[in-house]
Parts: sequence; C-alpha cells; structure tokens
Amino acid sequence: MKFKAPLTLVTLAVTAVGLSASAFAAPKVYQVGSNMAFAPFEFVENGKPAGFDMELIVAIMKTQGAEVELNNLPFDGLIPALQAGTIDIAMSGMTITEERKKRISFSDPYYDNGLVVMVRAADSGKYKQIDDVKGQMLCAQIGTTGAITAQKMSGKNVKLFNNGPEAFMELNNKGCEAVVHDKPVVNYFVAKRGSKDMVVLPGQLNSEQTGIAVSKKNPELLKMVNDGLKAVKENGEYDRLYKKWFGQ
Ligand code: ARG
Repeated sequence: MKFKAPLTLVTLAVTAVGLSASAFAAPKVYQVGSNMAFAPFEFVENGKPAGFDMELIVAIMKTQGAEVELNNLPFDGLIPALQAGTIDIAMSGMTITEERKKRISFSDPYYDNGLVVMVRAADSGKYKQIDDVKGQMLCAQIGTTGAITAQKMSGKNVKLFNNGPEAFMELNNKGCEAVVHDKPVVNYFVAKRGSKDMVVLPGQLNSEQTGIAVSKKNPELLKMVNDGLKAVKENGEYDRLYKKWFGQ
C-alpha cells in the first residue's frame, strides 16, 4: 500500500549563490515505512494513513523542505527494508534497543513508552497482576519488544501474529490468556472497545523509548530527522499532535 502524504506547501530555500538547476528541482520524496496497525501511532483510516507517527513524520520532514511517501509494511520487514535501501525512514513506534542499534541508526527519542499486559475482563479475578500470567499462553506481535518479553515470561507458550489487532482477536477467541503489547496501543484499544471485554493489568513491564530509524549509511538523513524533530518541538506542532492523539 502506498500513500502520498498530503503536503500543502513545500518551500525550497533558494540561496543567492546563482540559481542552479537543482535549485528548481522538485523536493526530494523520502520513502517512509510503517506497520499501520498500531493505533494511535499508525493505522489506516478511510484508506489513508492516520495517527501520531504519520502526522509527525510529515511535519518533521516538512521543516526540512522534504516530502514523504508513506508505505504500509510488515513490522519485521522494516529494518531489512532500511538496510536494503527500499525505504529511507522507518516510523513505526519502534523502540530504541541496543540490538536494533547494531543494524540501523535511531533519531533522538520522540516518545516514552512501555509494555503492558491485557487480559479478558472475565479473567480479571484470576489474573490480577502481571506476574499472574507468567508461564501462561501469551499473544504478541512478531518482531516486537512485546514478543521478546512474552517469550521471557512464558518460553514456548507464546503465539505470534503479524500485528497487534490479530493478537487481540486471538485473546478474545481464548487462543491465549494475555497479550503483551505497547501501553498506548492497548489503552487505545480498550478505550475504543469498552473495558467490559478486556482489561489492562496494573503497572507496566518496562520503560522504552521510541525513535525514528534510518540506515546507518545515511547520517545526513539522520541529522535532518533530528533537526526536524527539534523544530517541531520548538514550533508547537509536536505538542499539538501529542494532545490530539494521546490527550494531555
Ligand atoms: N514498540 C514495539 C517495538 O518496537 C512495537 C512496535 C510495533 N509497531 C507497529 N507499528 N506495529 O518492538
């Protein structure tokens, strides 16, 4: 799935150093990869990409005079796609980890995150705290920190899915006892769906920070992304988007 991000206006800085042909060239379009089943960070709404990350990356690159095209990809394919150069940027609620840092570069952190555990509301008597689901059958998304953590908790008793919503459905269908996934995503799901079906156990498993990923071969782009992130924090756009998608 490919989407052209709607950019209203892109201004090119034309310096006084003679007007070379490149000064008139169209702005470069960067290919962004994201796994768009991760509301409120990224999801598809009315056939278009929506969510905090999607609006944020457009805003960040706009401050750098660049446009983006948003591509919906499997989460575990994002790092290989960066390495192969088929995408320039991965914007996908991706947690900054030491393991991933060996393969790709991360921007400055842009969101404080953490993992939580969700169970069926009907089981809230049986599972009261996170420790209670250890060793039980757990569901998580392939290639995520939630999957790694679930495996630490339950070893082989983990079922992996292409995206969070599929894992939530499996929990609902009693194919597992709990889901391990990112807190804002689980909270958004429970808020939308109603807490009579699902509940989030108190506390969280860890603290994580998300970053924007680029190829190690592209330090210039990494600088652009970091400069753009700083710019949107300064001009109020980051705060506006944060409020819009996370409230407060
Ligand atoms: N934060 C977790 C990780 O980096 C999950 C990210 C999943 N993102 C997505 N768009 N599905 O492993």
